Amino acid sequence: MDHLPASKDLAALQQQMANTHLRNLFAEDPSRFERYTLEAAGLFLDYSKHLINDDVMTSLVNLAEQANLTHAREAMFSGKKINYTEKRAVLHTALRSFGDAPVMVDGEDIMPMIRETRARMKVMTEQVHSGQWLGHTGKPIKHIVNIGIGGSYLGLKTAINAMTPYHVKGFEHHFVANIDPNELSEVLRKIDPETTLFIVASKSFSTLETLQNAQAARAWMIEKGCAEEDIRKHFMAISTNLKAIDQFGIAQENTLPLWDWVGGRYSLWSSIGLLISMVVGYDNFERLLKGAEAMDQHFSSAPLAENMPVIAGLLGVWYQNFMGAESHAVISYDYFLRDLPGHLQQVDMESNGKRTRKDGSTVPYQTGSVIWGGTGTNDQHAYHQLLHQGTRLIPVDFIAPATTHNPIGEQHPWLFTNALAQSQAMMQGKTLEEVRDELSASGMGTEEVEQLAAHKVIPGNRPNSMIVPEKITPETTGALIAMYEHKVFVQGTIWQINSFDQWGVELGKVLGDRLIEKIRSKEETTDQDSSTNGLIKRFKQFNH
Ligand code: F6P
Repeated sequence: MDHLPASKDLAALQQQMANTHLRNLFAEDPSRFERYTLEAAGLFLDYSKHLINDDVMTSLVNLAEQANLTHAREAMFSGKKINYTEKRAVLHTALRSFGDAPVMVDGEDIMPMIRETRARMKVMTEQVHSGQWLGHTGKPIKHIVNIGIGGSYLGLKTAINAMTPYHVKGFEHHFVANIDPNELSEVLRKIDPETTLFIVASKSFSTLETLQNAQAARAWMIEKGCAEEDIRKHFMAISTNLKAIDQFGIAQENTLPLWDWVGGRYSLWSSIGLLISMVVGYDNFERLLKGAEAMDQHFSSAPLAENMPVIAGLLGVWYQNFMGAESHAVISYDYFLRDLPGHLQQVDMESNGKRTRKDGSTVPYQTGSVIWGGTGTNDQHAYHQLLHQGTRLIPVDFIAPATTHNPIGEQHPWLFTNALAQSQAMMQGKTLEEVRDELSASGMGTEEVEQLAAHKVIPGNRPNSMIVPEKITPETTGALIAMYEHKVFVQGTIWQINSFDQWGVELGKVLGDRLIEKIRSKEETTDQDSSTNGLIKRFKQFNH
């Protein structure tokens, strides 16, 4: 990125923008909203409250062009092995394609097996919903438990909660992700072994947490009276590793395949999304996919300057690489979207938390942003103070649907108004003069006004986007998640990193495998660093 001519232009523009204020940009140009808004796949993006002008946007788009984004985008959609460290194609977009075009991987069209898997998901879902699928005592399923972590959990939870109004009645769903036994115990306490179906979702089927939880769930079923030969009535599994599923003892007809060209954090659209289908019904799962497909079509065909994920990605690059921002907040003004920041943390930080370019060199600039956030209005009463008056530049995405599924009195208009007010307050702030006038008007004496005024100044000039879907539906949920996936891709392309591997998470796993032996051993550990030796000793003090 640093060698591209547009980088130099942007560095110069940063100087210029550092001396301007969003208030002035709005005052100077009444058409700012019209110029910096766009609509795609049911989402409306207002990016007018950003520290940009036409020169900045032109240079950012030049940067994307010079980084060969168009070429990279085509390479991804067409199945090139762009995940070059794992020699894999990246085709989550094929999972949500409903067109006729073939998508080739290693000379094979993968679309027929995607369609076949979708058809099997539909059948499995309907068997459970119709009461045809019976547990070991002949009772229909009432509880569905997803055992999976990371991409086999976060995206599912986000989409399922986003689609709360679409949940099929009569079933309860649960998640077990962590290896923390408290989590599994809490779920086991709520479910009934006669009417529970466990879905073991793991791309690799070798993830410690998932395998331990699945074994424990299996043991619990046996302990509760389910015979070994009936275990198949209570377990489904999804993985690329069908052999490991077989070894675990889950019947072949209860398994769904997955493929190495689906990244874990991009897998909610695949068979890993079986729980989504179980919770909202297969048709709504397909609506979710179609919403994502609409965003894919926009991303792959709209000019870069009018392309929502491209603009979102470029704005992130602008703040992070030229304006010194380190984090990015995503704040949803919809309770049903409360899990989105958690999913985006994996999508963004596991994808772009990288430092090495294709040629092995270390990047001389910042990559992956720190993603965080939550829901409004709750978070206004928690961390918004720092957004308004803190010392850091933190761009925010406010997501605020125009309508609600649950109109009660004026609550939704108030909710939307709060999003609007936060967005406006971040942009315009409150000047020293305004504060002085306000305090004087309240009858305060000059001396006291001068003492207090500086504390009440709100600098403003804090950039933020408003994303306004009409409503949170399966389609807009799909489009929103896909928009963020592509945003991450745009940034990874500009930063010249591989957004699709995750070697960084391996070391902790390997060390964990070694250290568990030390924890199990009765001998004192002396061959590690002094901190690790000491902490193992402390653990054993209370466990042996
Ligand atoms: O966190 C590392 C990771 O490999 C993620 O990329 C993945 O989503 C998660 O673990 C779970 O992996 P699996 O689906 O193979 O169990």
